[in-house]
Amino acid sequence: MTGPFLPFARPVIDEAMIAAVADTLRSRWIASGPQVQAFEKALSDYVGGRPVRTFTSATGAMEVALQLVGAGPGDEVVTPAQSFFASANVIERVGARTVFVDVDLATRNIDLDAAGAAVTPRTKALLPVHYNAPLDPAALAAFRARHGVRVIEDAALAIGSRAGGKPVGAAGDLVSFSFHPNKNMTTIEGGALVVNDAAEAAAIEKLRFHGIARLPDGTRDVEVAGGKYNLSDVSARLGLAQLSRLDEWCAARERLAMHYFACLEGDDLLIPDRLPPRANPGHGWNMFTVLLPLGGMAITRRQFMDAMQREGIGIGLSYEAIHLASFWRAKGWREGQFPVAERIGRETVTLPLFPDMTPVDVERVCEALRRVVRSRAA
Ligand SMILES: Cc1ncc(COP(=O)(O)O)c(C=O)c1O
Repeated sequence: MTGPFLPFARPVIDEAMIAAVADTLRSRWIASGPQVQAFEKALSDYVGGRPVRTFTSATGAMEVALQLVGAGPGDEVVTPAQSFFASANVIERVGARTVFVDVDLATRNIDLDAAGAAVTPRTKALLPVHYNAPLDPAALAAFRARHGVRVIEDAALAIGSRAGGKPVGAAGDLVSFSFHPNKNMTTIEGGALVVNDAAEAAAIEKLRFHGIARLPDGTRDVEVAGGKYNLSDVSARLGLAQLSRLDEWCAARERLAMHYFACLEGDDLLIPDRLPPRANPGHGWNMFTVLLPLGGMAITRRQFMDAMQREGIGIGLSYEAIHLASFWRAKGWREGQFPVAERIGRETVTLPLFPDMTPVDVERVCEALRRVVRSRAA
């Protein structure tokens, strides 16, 4: 090891955040309350005024979004084969059928032509994922208009990213964010859903909390079997403090990502399509992934990751192709159906990238990567 351990992701928690959380704990109002409301208002302001409601995770937010659009048994939802498992699991959890399509190597995002071809009269929604680059809002709006389906954007990785000159979430239909500690800002665990209007906001409030509606006489009614996905005030207070530094952190991520390009471009083993798309200015760069040149290496990806660990560098794997997991194979999905997703799933590794990393850390990762890629198994 040539320096302190570098994890592949690490949230910034400053003293002001710790003090803010301590204040909330001292207030004894720690479940959902005024901090959740303030956080939701701040998130809504951040995305340009559309209503936002918070959840205990992005997974919960997406499940509720699917319930909101009425996706259930007999319906289909189109989603990319390359994402975190949650993007597809939520579709099955509401009883709908997942229809996978391939991703595009240039953007690493869903191939919208393939998605269009997969639409049937049963298609209820498109669930695209902001992966290595933000999704294009104009292309999603055109897809929605052309096919007449709802669009639930999985923007777990994209809070703080900009697309089409606006923050992700400012445009579109339903947009879900994650505040897991590996994301651009954190509430420890947590998520949010951006919706179109007050009626949708009221509907998801019910779906996230037992389906309960308050009657004029003060009693409660249940109109739908809702879940339990409300964020706590302790998490929301952390989220408020984090949100105030989000733009600064995304700018730092972008500078570090550009430094990775400067260090890795021109390497004969990492020819351009092995580097992530450079994306547009304002991309929040949650991750910097590279595709390993496995054919030219004497070691496997697992051995690469272990060797980097011995160098004091944490490497992530984001993500395997979803349709090759046993749950999906049992439903008939198989190898060879989505060559780009499968290639990314086979070759991808995630290099360390977090706001308080330094350019020297980036250089250390690149030097180790070059050394290990060219090494032989020990
Ligand atoms: C693309 C994507 N979607 C969804 C999720 C799920 O987010 P959460 O952990 O907040 O449920 C993640 C988390 O890693 C993700 O990367």
